[in-house]
Amino acid sequence: MRVCVTGGAGYIGSHTVVSLIEAGHDVVVIDNFTNSSPDTIGKISNIVGKRVEYRVADMRRTTALIQSIQEDPPDAVIHFAGLKAVGESFEIPVDYYDNNVCGTVSLLKAMKEWGTKKIIFSSSATVYGQPSVLPIPEDHPLKPTNPYGATKLVCEWLIRSSLGAGDLTAATILRYFNPVGAHPSGTIGELPKGAPNNLAPYVAQVAHGWREKVSVFGNDWPTPDGTGVRDYIHVMDLARGHVASLDLEGENILNLGTGKGTSVLEMISAFENACGKPIPHVITARRQGDISECVADPSRALDKMGWSANMAVEQMARDAWRWQQGLDGGDV
Ligand code: NAD
Ligand code: WQD
Repeated sequence: MRVCVTGGAGYIGSHTVVSLIEAGHDVVVIDNFTNSSPDTIGKISNIVGKRVEYRVADMRRTTALIQSIQEDPPDAVIHFAGLKAVGESFEIPVDYYDNNVCGTVSLLKAMKEWGTKKIIFSSSATVYGQPSVLPIPEDHPLKPTNPYGATKLVCEWLIRSSLGAGDLTAATILRYFNPVGAHPSGTIGELPKGAPNNLAPYVAQVAHGWREKVSVFGNDWPTPDGTGVRDYIHVMDLARGHVASLDLEGENILNLGTGKGTSVLEMISAFENACGKPIPHVITARRQGDISECVADPSRALDKMGWSANMAVEQMARDAWRWQQGLDGGDV
Protein backbone atom coordinates (compact mmCIF):
# COMPACT_ATOMS: atom_id res chain seq x y z
CA MET A 1 0.00 0.00 0.00
CA ARG A 2 1.01 3.61 -0.41
CA VAL A 3 0.74 5.01 3.12
CA CYS A 4 0.86 8.68 4.13
CA VAL A 5 2.22 9.04 7.67
CA THR A 6 1.44 12.43 9.22
CA GLY A 7 3.82 13.27 12.05
CA GLY A 8 6.13 10.59 10.69
CA ALA A 9 9.26 12.35 11.98
CA GLY A 10 7.97 12.18 15.57
CA TYR A 11 8.56 9.55 18.20
CA ILE A 12 5.91 6.93 17.40
CA GLY A 13 5.62 7.95 13.75
CA SER A 14 9.31 7.42 12.97
CA HIS A 15 9.29 3.87 14.39
CA THR A 16 6.10 3.11 12.49
CA VAL A 17 7.65 4.36 9.23
CA VAL A 18 10.50 1.86 9.75
CA SER A 19 8.05 -1.00 10.32
CA LEU A 20 5.88 0.00 7.35
CA ILE A 21 8.83 0.13 4.95
CA GLU A 22 10.20 -3.14 6.30
CA ALA A 23 6.75 -4.69 5.68
CA GLY A 24 6.98 -3.59 2.02
CA HIS A 25 4.76 -0.49 2.06
CA ASP A 26 5.49 2.66 0.12
CA VAL A 27 5.57 5.56 2.61
CA VAL A 28 5.29 9.34 2.34
CA VAL A 29 5.79 11.34 5.54
CA ILE A 30 4.13 14.70 6.16
CA ASP A 31 5.47 16.74 9.08
CA ASN A 32 6.09 20.39 9.94
CA PHE A 33 8.87 19.42 12.39
CA THR A 34 7.26 21.42 15.18
CA ASN A 35 8.26 18.70 17.65
CA SER A 36 10.83 16.75 15.64
CA SER A 37 13.82 17.18 13.40
CA PRO A 38 14.34 16.63 9.67
CA ASP A 39 17.46 14.64 10.71
CA THR A 40 15.12 11.86 11.82
CA ILE A 41 14.10 11.29 8.19
CA GLY A 42 17.76 10.61 7.33
CA LYS A 43 18.08 8.28 10.30
CA ILE A 44 15.03 6.29 9.22
CA SER A 45 16.53 6.10 5.71
CA ASN A 46 19.74 4.66 7.18
CA ILE A 47 17.82 2.00 9.10
CA VAL A 48 15.72 0.86 6.15
CA GLY A 49 18.47 1.31 3.55
CA LYS A 50 16.47 3.52 1.21
CA ARG A 51 15.48 7.15 0.85
CA VAL A 52 12.32 8.07 2.76
CA GLU A 53 9.93 10.36 0.86
CA TYR A 54 8.67 13.32 2.89
CA ARG A 55 6.90 16.66 2.56
CA VAL A 56 7.10 19.63 4.91
CA ALA A 57 3.53 20.80 5.51
CA ASP A 58 1.29 21.94 8.32
CA MET A 59 -1.78 19.73 8.65
CA ARG A 60 -4.02 22.78 9.04
CA ARG A 61 -3.11 24.30 5.67
CA THR A 62 -5.55 22.28 3.61
CA THR A 63 -4.61 23.51 0.13
CA ALA A 64 -0.88 23.01 0.69
CA LEU A 65 -1.59 19.65 2.29
CA ILE A 66 -3.68 18.50 -0.67
CA GLN A 67 -1.10 19.68 -3.19
CA SER A 68 1.83 18.12 -1.35
CA ILE A 69 0.96 14.57 -2.45
CA GLN A 70 -1.82 15.09 -4.98
CA GLU A 71 0.23 13.65 -7.84
CA ASP A 72 0.50 10.26 -6.10
CA PRO A 73 -2.26 9.98 -3.48
CA PRO A 74 -2.08 7.39 -0.71
CA ASP A 75 -4.26 4.30 -0.18
CA ALA A 76 -4.26 4.96 3.57
CA VAL A 77 -3.27 7.63 6.07
CA ILE A 78 -1.80 7.00 9.52
CA HIS A 79 -2.40 10.22 11.42
CA PHE A 80 0.11 10.91 14.21
CA ALA A 81 0.57 14.67 13.75
CA GLY A 82 -0.55 16.62 16.79
CA LEU A 83 0.43 18.13 20.11
CA LYS A 84 0.57 15.74 23.05
CA ALA A 85 1.63 17.35 26.35
CA VAL A 86 -1.12 17.12 28.96
CA GLY A 87 0.22 19.96 31.17
CA GLU A 88 0.77 22.31 28.24
CA SER A 89 -2.78 21.64 27.01
CA PHE A 90 -4.13 23.37 30.14
CA GLU A 91 -1.99 26.44 29.37
CA ILE A 92 -2.74 26.74 25.63
CA PRO A 93 -5.98 24.80 25.07
CA VAL A 94 -6.94 26.78 21.95
CA ASP A 95 -3.64 25.82 20.31
CA TYR A 96 -4.32 22.19 21.17
CA TYR A 97 -7.79 22.26 19.60
CA ASP A 98 -6.42 24.17 16.62
CA ASN A 99 -3.56 21.77 15.97
CA ASN A 100 -5.24 18.50 16.82
CA VAL A 101 -8.86 19.07 15.82
CA CYS A 102 -8.44 21.56 12.96
CA GLY A 103 -5.48 19.49 11.72
CA THR A 104 -7.71 16.43 11.57
CA VAL A 105 -10.58 18.33 9.89
CA SER A 106 -8.11 19.55 7.28
CA LEU A 107 -6.73 16.05 6.76
CA LEU A 108 -10.22 14.61 6.25
CA LYS A 109 -10.88 17.29 3.60
CA ALA A 110 -7.60 16.45 1.89
CA MET A 111 -8.39 12.73 1.97
CA LYS A 112 -11.67 13.45 0.19
CA GLU A 113 -9.74 15.26 -2.55
CA TRP A 114 -7.23 12.41 -2.80
CA GLY A 115 -9.95 9.74 -2.79
CA THR A 116 -8.28 8.11 0.22
CA LYS A 117 -10.80 6.19 2.31
CA LYS A 118 -8.73 4.52 5.01
CA ILE A 119 -7.44 6.24 8.16
CA ILE A 120 -5.65 5.05 11.27
CA PHE A 121 -5.75 7.57 14.09
CA SER A 122 -3.47 7.99 17.13
CA SER A 123 -5.77 8.24 20.10
CA SER A 124 -4.81 7.76 23.70
CA ALA A 125 -5.83 5.99 26.89
CA THR A 126 -6.27 9.49 28.24
CA VAL A 127 -9.77 9.54 26.65
CA TYR A 128 -10.93 7.16 29.41
CA GLY A 129 -10.06 9.55 32.26
CA GLN A 130 -10.25 8.04 35.74
CA PRO A 131 -10.75 4.28 35.18
CA SER A 132 -13.90 2.81 36.68
CA VAL A 133 -12.79 -0.73 35.84
CA LEU A 134 -9.38 -2.39 35.33
CA PRO A 135 -8.12 -3.56 32.92
CA ILE A 136 -9.81 -0.92 30.74
CA PRO A 137 -11.92 -2.24 27.83
CA GLU A 138 -12.71 -0.05 24.80
CA ASP A 139 -16.35 0.37 25.87
CA HIS A 140 -15.27 2.01 29.13
CA PRO A 141 -16.90 5.47 29.60
CA LEU A 142 -15.00 8.29 27.87
CA LYS A 143 -14.33 11.17 30.26
CA PRO A 144 -11.03 12.90 29.49
CA THR A 145 -9.85 15.11 32.33
CA ASN A 146 -7.56 17.43 30.33
CA PRO A 147 -7.85 19.52 27.13
CA TYR A 148 -5.39 17.28 25.27
CA GLY A 149 -7.57 14.23 25.94
CA ALA A 150 -10.67 16.17 24.91
CA THR A 151 -9.08 16.98 21.53
CA LYS A 152 -8.37 13.26 21.01
CA LEU A 153 -11.98 12.40 21.77
CA VAL A 154 -13.31 15.08 19.40
CA CYS A 155 -11.03 13.69 16.66
CA GLU A 156 -12.39 10.19 17.32
CA TRP A 157 -15.94 11.53 16.83
CA LEU A 158 -14.94 13.44 13.68
CA ILE A 159 -13.41 10.36 12.11
CA ARG A 160 -16.33 8.13 13.08
CA SER A 161 -18.77 10.67 11.60
CA SER A 162 -16.80 10.71 8.34
CA LEU A 163 -17.01 6.94 8.20
CA GLY A 164 -20.75 7.13 8.91
CA ALA A 165 -21.19 9.58 6.04
CA GLY A 166 -19.37 7.26 3.64
CA ASP A 167 -16.35 9.55 3.18
CA LEU A 168 -14.23 6.72 4.58
CA THR A 169 -14.49 2.95 4.34
CA ALA A 170 -12.03 2.16 7.12
CA ALA A 171 -11.47 4.10 10.34
CA THR A 172 -9.25 2.57 12.97
CA ILE A 173 -8.82 4.40 16.25
CA LEU A 174 -5.86 3.17 18.22
CA ARG A 175 -5.79 4.13 21.90
CA TYR A 176 -2.20 3.84 23.05
CA PHE A 177 -1.31 3.34 26.68
CA ASN A 178 2.23 4.45 27.72
CA PRO A 179 4.68 4.17 24.82
CA VAL A 180 8.36 3.83 25.80
CA GLY A 181 11.59 2.40 24.38
CA ALA A 182 13.36 3.05 21.10
CA HIS A 183 14.45 1.31 17.92
CA PRO A 184 17.00 -1.43 18.82
CA SER A 185 19.61 0.29 16.61
CA GLY A 186 19.65 3.21 19.06
CA THR A 187 19.41 5.68 16.17
CA ILE A 188 15.80 6.84 16.64
CA GLY A 189 13.84 7.33 19.86
CA GLU A 190 11.96 9.86 21.92
CA LEU A 191 13.39 13.38 21.84
CA PRO A 192 11.78 15.44 24.60
CA LYS A 193 12.40 19.19 24.46
CA GLY A 194 13.50 20.42 27.88
CA ALA A 195 12.63 18.46 31.02
CA PRO A 196 10.62 15.35 30.11
CA ASN A 197 7.07 15.15 31.43
CA ASN A 198 7.00 11.38 31.18
CA LEU A 199 8.60 8.89 33.51
CA ALA A 200 10.78 6.79 31.19
CA PRO A 201 12.71 9.62 29.47
CA TYR A 202 13.15 11.34 32.83
CA VAL A 203 14.61 8.19 34.39
CA ALA A 204 16.90 7.75 31.37
CA GLN A 205 18.18 11.32 31.71
CA VAL A 206 18.90 10.85 35.43
CA ALA A 207 20.75 7.62 34.61
CA HIS A 208 22.79 9.59 32.06
CA GLY A 209 23.68 12.25 34.62
CA TRP A 210 21.70 15.01 32.89
CA ARG A 211 19.38 15.37 35.86
CA GLU A 212 19.99 14.85 39.53
CA LYS A 213 17.20 12.54 40.63
CA VAL A 214 13.80 11.16 39.74
CA SER A 215 10.86 12.48 41.74
CA VAL A 216 8.49 9.60 42.39
CA PHE A 217 5.07 11.22 42.49
CA GLY A 218 3.60 9.59 45.60
CA ASN A 219 4.03 6.23 47.33
CA ASP A 220 0.62 6.23 48.96
CA TRP A 221 -1.44 5.05 45.98
CA PRO A 222 -3.56 1.91 46.44
CA THR A 223 -1.07 -0.22 44.47
CA PRO A 224 1.24 -3.07 45.62
CA ASP A 225 4.25 -0.79 46.30
CA GLY A 226 2.28 2.45 46.66
CA THR A 227 3.57 4.03 43.43
CA GLY A 228 1.54 4.66 40.27
CA VAL A 229 0.95 1.73 37.92
CA ARG A 230 0.86 2.06 34.12
CA ASP A 231 0.73 -0.14 31.06
CA TYR A 232 4.05 0.63 29.34
CA ILE A 233 4.29 -0.55 25.76
CA HIS A 234 7.41 -0.81 23.59
CA VAL A 235 7.26 1.65 20.69
CA MET A 236 8.25 -1.14 18.25
CA ASP A 237 5.26 -3.22 19.40
CA LEU A 238 3.10 -0.14 18.78
CA ALA A 239 4.66 0.31 15.34
CA ARG A 240 3.80 -3.31 14.48
CA GLY A 241 0.23 -2.66 15.64
CA HIS A 242 -0.10 0.12 13.06
CA VAL A 243 1.12 -2.13 10.26
CA ALA A 244 -1.41 -4.81 11.30
CA SER A 245 -4.24 -2.27 11.42
CA LEU A 246 -3.82 -1.41 7.72
CA ASP A 247 -5.72 -4.61 6.88
CA LEU A 248 -8.85 -3.62 8.83
CA GLU A 249 -12.05 -2.37 7.20
CA GLY A 250 -15.02 -0.53 8.73
CA GLU A 251 -14.88 0.97 12.21
CA ASN A 252 -12.42 -0.35 14.75
CA ILE A 253 -11.53 1.11 18.12
CA LEU A 254 -8.64 -0.74 19.68
CA ASN A 255 -6.54 -0.43 22.82
CA LEU A 256 -2.82 -0.89 22.20
CA GLY A 257 -1.29 -1.93 25.50
CA THR A 258 0.26 -5.02 27.06
CA GLY A 259 -2.40 -5.70 29.69
CA LYS A 260 0.37 -5.71 32.31
CA GLY A 261 0.88 -3.02 34.93
CA THR A 262 4.30 -1.75 36.06
CA SER A 263 4.86 0.58 39.02
CA VAL A 264 7.14 3.63 39.04
CA LEU A 265 9.62 1.80 41.32
CA GLU A 266 9.57 -1.27 39.05
CA MET A 267 10.31 0.96 36.04
CA ILE A 268 13.22 2.62 37.85
CA SER A 269 14.53 -0.83 38.75
CA ALA A 270 14.27 -1.97 35.08
CA PHE A 271 16.40 1.05 34.08
CA GLU A 272 18.89 0.31 36.89
CA ASN A 273 19.34 -3.18 35.46
CA ALA A 274 19.69 -1.78 31.93
CA CYS A 275 22.37 0.77 32.81
CA GLY A 276 24.05 -1.23 35.59
CA LYS A 277 23.97 1.50 38.23
CA PRO A 278 21.61 2.86 40.88
CA ILE A 279 19.30 5.67 39.78
CA PRO A 280 18.80 8.34 42.47
CA HIS A 281 15.14 8.89 43.29
CA VAL A 282 13.07 10.50 46.03
CA ILE A 283 9.43 10.20 46.97
CA THR A 284 7.56 13.48 46.52
CA ALA A 285 3.92 14.56 46.63
CA ARG A 286 1.44 13.18 44.12
CA ARG A 287 1.31 15.02 40.79
CA GLN A 288 -1.93 16.93 40.29
CA GLY A 289 -4.36 15.11 38.03
CA ASP A 290 -2.57 11.72 38.27
CA ILE A 291 -4.45 8.46 38.65
CA SER A 292 -3.42 5.40 40.59
CA GLU A 293 -3.51 2.76 37.90
CA CYS A 294 -4.11 2.55 34.16
CA VAL A 295 -3.86 -0.80 32.38
CA ALA A 296 -5.35 -1.88 29.04
CA ASP A 297 -7.54 -4.79 28.20
CA PRO A 298 -5.79 -5.49 24.87
CA SER A 299 -7.91 -8.52 23.90
CA ARG A 300 -9.88 -6.78 21.13
CA ALA A 301 -6.69 -5.98 19.17
CA LEU A 302 -5.78 -9.66 19.36
CA ASP A 303 -9.24 -10.74 18.18
CA LYS A 304 -9.51 -8.19 15.36
CA MET A 305 -6.00 -8.15 13.96
CA GLY A 306 -4.02 -10.91 15.66
CA TRP A 307 -1.81 -8.33 17.37
CA SER A 308 -0.39 -8.50 20.87
CA ALA A 309 2.58 -6.80 22.46
CA ASN A 310 5.52 -9.07 23.11
CA MET A 311 8.26 -6.91 24.65
CA ALA A 312 8.63 -6.53 28.42
CA VAL A 313 9.70 -3.46 30.40
CA GLU A 314 13.27 -4.81 30.68
CA GLN A 315 13.57 -4.61 26.88
CA MET A 316 11.94 -1.16 26.84
CA ALA A 317 14.48 0.08 29.41
CA ARG A 318 17.45 -1.45 27.53
CA ASP A 319 16.40 0.13 24.23
CA ALA A 320 15.56 3.51 25.81
CA TRP A 321 18.95 3.50 27.56
CA ARG A 322 20.84 2.68 24.34
CA TRP A 323 19.08 5.62 22.64
CA GLN A 324 19.71 7.94 25.61
CA GLN A 325 23.45 7.20 25.55
CA GLY A 326 23.66 8.46 21.96
CA LEU A 327 22.10 11.86 22.78
CA ASP A 328 24.32 14.90 23.29
CA GLY A 329 22.40 16.82 25.94
CA GLY A 330 22.03 19.97 23.83
CA ASP A 331 18.34 20.26 24.67
CA VAL A 332 18.46 19.63 28.43
P1 NAD B 1 5.65 13.57 18.65
O1 NAD B 1 5.45 14.96 19.12
O2 NAD B 1 6.99 12.95 18.81
O3 NAD B 1 5.22 13.43 17.13
C1 NAD B 1 4.21 14.22 16.55
C2 NAD B 1 4.73 14.71 15.20
O4 NAD B 1 3.72 15.50 14.59
C3 NAD B 1 5.97 15.59 15.32
O5 NAD B 1 6.95 15.17 14.40
C4 NAD B 1 5.46 17.00 15.01
O6 NAD B 1 6.45 17.79 14.40
C5 NAD B 1 4.30 16.68 14.07
N1 NAD B 1 3.25 17.71 14.04
C6 NAD B 1 2.60 18.26 15.10
N2 NAD B 1 1.70 19.15 14.68
C7 NAD B 1 1.76 19.16 13.32
C8 NAD B 1 1.06 19.87 12.30
N3 NAD B 1 0.12 20.76 12.60
N4 NAD B 1 1.39 19.62 11.01
C9 NAD B 1 2.35 18.73 10.70
N5 NAD B 1 3.04 18.03 11.62
C10 NAD B 1 2.75 18.24 12.92
O7 NAD B 1 4.54 12.68 19.40
P2 NAD B 1 4.41 11.08 19.51
O8 NAD B 1 4.73 10.70 20.91
O9 NAD B 1 5.08 10.43 18.38
O10 NAD B 1 2.83 10.97 19.37
C11 NAD B 1 2.24 10.73 18.10
C12 NAD B 1 0.73 10.72 18.26
O11 NAD B 1 0.36 9.73 19.22
C13 NAD B 1 0.17 12.04 18.77
O12 NAD B 1 -1.04 12.30 18.08
C14 NAD B 1 -0.10 11.78 20.23
O13 NAD B 1 -1.17 12.54 20.72
C15 NAD B 1 -0.46 10.29 20.22
N6 NAD B 1 -0.15 9.61 21.50
C16 NAD B 1 1.09 9.71 22.05
C17 NAD B 1 1.34 9.09 23.27
C18 NAD B 1 2.69 9.23 23.93
O14 NAD B 1 2.77 9.06 25.14
N7 NAD B 1 3.77 9.50 23.21
C19 NAD B 1 0.34 8.36 23.89
C20 NAD B 1 -0.91 8.25 23.29
C21 NAD B 1 -1.15 8.90 22.08
C1 WQD C 1 3.70 7.54 34.49
C2 WQD C 1 3.78 7.29 35.98
C3 WQD C 1 3.45 9.27 37.30
C4 WQD C 1 7.11 11.27 35.93
C5 WQD C 1 0.91 10.43 29.97
C6 WQD C 1 -0.29 11.14 29.41
C7 WQD C 1 -1.09 10.22 28.55
C8 WQD C 1 -0.23 9.55 27.46
C9 WQD C 1 0.98 8.94 28.06
C10 WQD C 1 -0.40 10.86 25.45
C11 WQD C 1 2.72 8.03 36.79
C12 WQD C 1 4.85 8.74 37.47
C13 WQD C 1 6.07 10.38 36.13
C14 WQD C 1 8.00 11.52 37.01
C15 WQD C 1 6.80 9.96 38.37
N1 WQD C 1 0.22 10.51 26.50
N2 WQD C 1 5.93 9.74 37.33
N3 WQD C 1 7.82 10.84 38.19
O1 WQD C 1 0.74 10.37 33.10
O2 WQD C 1 0.48 7.86 32.73
O3 WQD C 1 0.46 9.38 30.80
O4 WQD C 1 1.67 9.89 28.87
O5 WQD C 1 -1.47 10.50 25.07
O6 WQD C 1 -2.11 10.98 27.98
O7 WQD C 1 -1.08 11.60 30.50
O8 WQD C 1 2.57 9.02 31.96
O9 WQD C 1 5.02 8.91 32.09
O10 WQD C 1 3.86 11.01 32.88
O11 WQD C 1 3.66 8.95 34.24
O12 WQD C 1 6.66 9.39 39.45
O13 WQD C 1 8.94 12.33 36.89
O14 WQD C 1 5.03 7.80 36.46
O15 WQD C 1 2.93 9.76 38.51
O16 WQD C 1 2.37 7.21 37.87
P1 WQD C 1 0.99 9.18 32.28
P2 WQD C 1 3.85 9.54 32.76
